[in-house]
Amino acid sequence: MKIDKKEVLRALEHITVPGEGQNMVESGAVKNIQIFGDEVEVDITISNPSLQARKKTEVEILKIIHREVYEKAKIKINIKVDAPAKPKTNEIKGKPLPGIQNIIAVASGKGGVGKSTVTANLAVTLAKMGFKVGVLDADIYGPSMPIMFDVPMEKPLAVNVGGKSKMKPVENYGVKLLSIGFFTQPDQAVIWRGPMAAKALNQMIFDAHWGELDFMLIDLPPGTGDIHLSIMQAMPVTGAVVVSTPQNVALADARKGVAMFQQDSINVPVLGIAENMAYFTPEELPDNKYYIFGKEGAKNLAEDLNVPFLGEIPLVQSIREAGDIGRPAAMQTATPVEEAFENLTKNVVQEVVGRNKSLPPTEAIKITTMAGCSVVKKK
Ligand SMILES: Nc1ncnc2c1ncn2[C@@H]1O[C@H](COP(=O)(O)OP(=O)(O)O)[C@@H](O)[C@H]1O
Ligand SMILES: [Mg+2]
Repeated sequence: MKIDKKEVLRALEHITVPGEGQNMVESGAVKNIQIFGDEVEVDITISNPSLQARKKTEVEILKIIHREVYEKAKIKINIKVDAPAKPKTNEIKGKPLPGIQNIIAVASGKGGVGKSTVTANLAVTLAKMGFKVGVLDADIYGPSMPIMFDVPMEKPLAVNVGGKSKMKPVENYGVKLLSIGFFTQPDQAVIWRGPMAAKALNQMIFDAHWGELDFMLIDLPPGTGDIHLSIMQAMPVTGAVVVSTPQNVALADARKGVAMFQQDSINVPVLGIAENMAYFTPEELPDNKYYIFGKEGAKNLAEDLNVPFLGEIPLVQSIREAGDIGRPAAMQTATPVEEAFENLTKNVVQEVVGRNKSLPPTEAIKITTMAGCSVVKKK
């Protein structure tokens, strides 16, 4: 009796891997099959180290080969336990936020580099791609989301959720929003002291009814202070996007920003660096690029720090104007600005998907494929 290897493989396809919804062959658990006459030797790897799991797998393999291939086959099974390596980075800290898949912190070392502009445009672009998006404006020194989303006078309402009163985020352009700015007068200087700010932030995070979100973006204050530490420790942040202009002073601060996320007490994966105000193109000379703040500074920094480069956003008057009137520029369709933000957003999503592959399944993102701009979600 000559046993066919293909038949053995086909038989093993009947065995599903618990919790994965895949069969043993698809999941890559079958490492090798050797045939010697009527003997079959199967090498497999499983992730469940328990003796019971091993026994069960062995019995299943024996049965299925005897049933499907050859009832008198002599079978030898070598099982190797390959426990999923614990990810070194991104150990989830803080309380998990039910219903929120991915929390992305947007940071910059230096103020005024366009962190909020990038956050707002990332948010509307993600919403256009079909994701459920929320923005938490944690910039206690200069909250700008209420203006950038044209809701400066709104106040979040209270809703009753399961007998508890919760804050309902304000919504515009398909993006849910909570901001420190909703709790202060527009012309009032915000001298929040650390503990007060932390308390307000905590409420916006844990006493708010965000509902289901694919992405929550957090617009962090500039710098690398205590408030960053408390947010990073309170929340299971998936990753950070660091925004910088190509200018040396901004780059030096961006470097500190990256170092902050990578330090042991924070340990949040850096999804990458985005270069804002990368170049200026006047409307009347659309093919000219002027590198006002220097050329490719953020790109080089990303290379230097060995973190992904997420893309460049030009310095364009319409971006500034859009921010001021409260309608993020990426909403203007078929423009180079929209294209630049789409490119940036796709790269961010791709990095998130990549990061989540190395995370435990409960934290993993639910995105599977990306085709052009429309991202297919599998819930
Ligand atoms: N790419 C850009 N082109 C033109 N203006 C920009 C761009 N990015 C930001 N700005 C403008 O620069 C100023 C600072 O941006 P902002 O997003 O508020 O920075 P940050 O949040 O880092 O302090 C704002 O007036 C904003 O409209
Ligand atoms: Mg800002």
